[in-house]
Amino acid sequence: MTALWGGRFTGGPAQALQQLNDSIGFDWRLAPYDIRASQAHARVLHRARLLTDAELTELLGALDALADDIATGVFQPQTGDEDVHTALERGLVERLGTLGGKLRAGRSRNDQVATDLRLYARDAAASLTAKLTELVEALADQAEKHLHDPAPGMTHLQHAQPVTLGHQLLAHAQGLLRDLDRLADWDRRAAVCPLGSGALSGSSLPLDPEAVAEELGFTTSAPNSIDAVADRDFAVELAFVCAQIGLHLSRLGEEFILWSSQEFGWVTVDDAFSTGSSIMPQKKNPDVAELARGKSGRLVGNLNSLVTALKGLPFAYNKDLQEDKEPLFDSLDNLELLLPAVTGMVATATFHPDVPRQAAPKGFSLATEIADWLVRKGIPFRTAHEVAGACVAECESHGIELHELSDEQLVGLSEHLDASVREVLTVDGALAARTTPGSTGPQAVRHQLETVRATVENLRKVTIPSQ
Ligand code: ARG
Repeated sequence: MTALWGGRFTGGPAQALQQLNDSIGFDWRLAPYDIRASQAHARVLHRARLLTDAELTELLGALDALADDIATGVFQPQTGDEDVHTALERGLVERLGTLGGKLRAGRSRNDQVATDLRLYARDAAASLTAKLTELVEALADQAEKHLHDPAPGMTHLQHAQPVTLGHQLLAHAQGLLRDLDRLADWDRRAAVCPLGSGALSGSSLPLDPEAVAEELGFTTSAPNSIDAVADRDFAVELAFVCAQIGLHLSRLGEEFILWSSQEFGWVTVDDAFSTGSSIMPQKKNPDVAELARGKSGRLVGNLNSLVTALKGLPFAYNKDLQEDKEPLFDSLDNLELLLPAVTGMVATATFHPDVPRQAAPKGFSLATEIADWLVRKGIPFRTAHEVAGACVAECESHGIELHELSDEQLVGLSEHLDASVREVLTVDGALAARTTPGSTGPQAVRHQLETVRATVENLRKVTIPSQ
């Protein structure tokens, strides 16, 4: 008999129920965490004099052996194992006989599964942190190579004002740095241990939840046993961070898709990070960037599944909570797949800085410089904007660029204009003129790069304390 329950039942479960109810198909990955939690629990039972010295030694040894057998695939779930907890108790009983049944004292699958999932999620978040950091570094490396290379800055996907490629690439790094901060902040709240809460009310046995929490690398045990088994905030929050990362990757992906198109031609994605077509021999497609864009949908969907499953659930545990795992695992798994590919794509991409440089002044993107030049002469911006707009209209009707306006044309357009306005009508001049912090000006971008690098350095030092 494998089941963890059945004493009060007259017959076995219907197959349809079993198929619906079993979670072993997706919770088996929690096995190593369940074993670690079991070892901490065994020590506490021993200190409570509920296990003898010999029994503790035997149990710890068997749990170690079981962990090894799981790692090598010698021990696997089998039919009748409802969930990871059931399978592991079977494994213990197979090895130890009745002693294997002692570990269940004082705990429930409700506090076990909440503990296992937190442990799993904290490790997964640490791994995400490492991978995200690498992507930020790849962006910083590319930004450094092209720190002062001009490009058309866009709003509404129309040329707006010149920026530098470095600034644009670092803009993507900023969002990811916020995600890294979110992960660190999330971990602080996730580091609470539910074990000891039992089914929902705690335990009449003299357990030591604080000791268990410490052994498992949590900062504290749960302050409320009902909340401890009912709460899935940690899963929702992490699913949100995953969705947010997904959104950032999708926007980065979209830029690479555009920039690598024939029409833009700013960047060539390396062959190793491109795919071909089965019919068109010439095709080279930016699939990594497209999958980054595409997968953001399921990451948002997973978050939605989770929050919807939780809405209106009565306290404490309900089987609905078993639905927490697949969405969260799916989000984490997909980012594990996606991040190295996006990092590789960014790191190996070759920019062609001459192309965006040539394009930077096009579309009259220096018109704001004329307006600002007039403002510096004391003209109200409202008037300055009108005058600069008239310059654009004049250029458009003659098919010329702003800097090509003749002295006569300039003076004819406004009494405030003269030939010296041409001094600000260069991309390099416009960039150099931007001195505000956070701007695309050379000093500000250099400073930004240094700050990003320093943040990455710190992240490498302070890894998430996952256990
Ligand atoms: N497989 C269950 C889950 O993932 C474990 C907890 C079951 N608890 C219970 N009272 N049936 O949520």
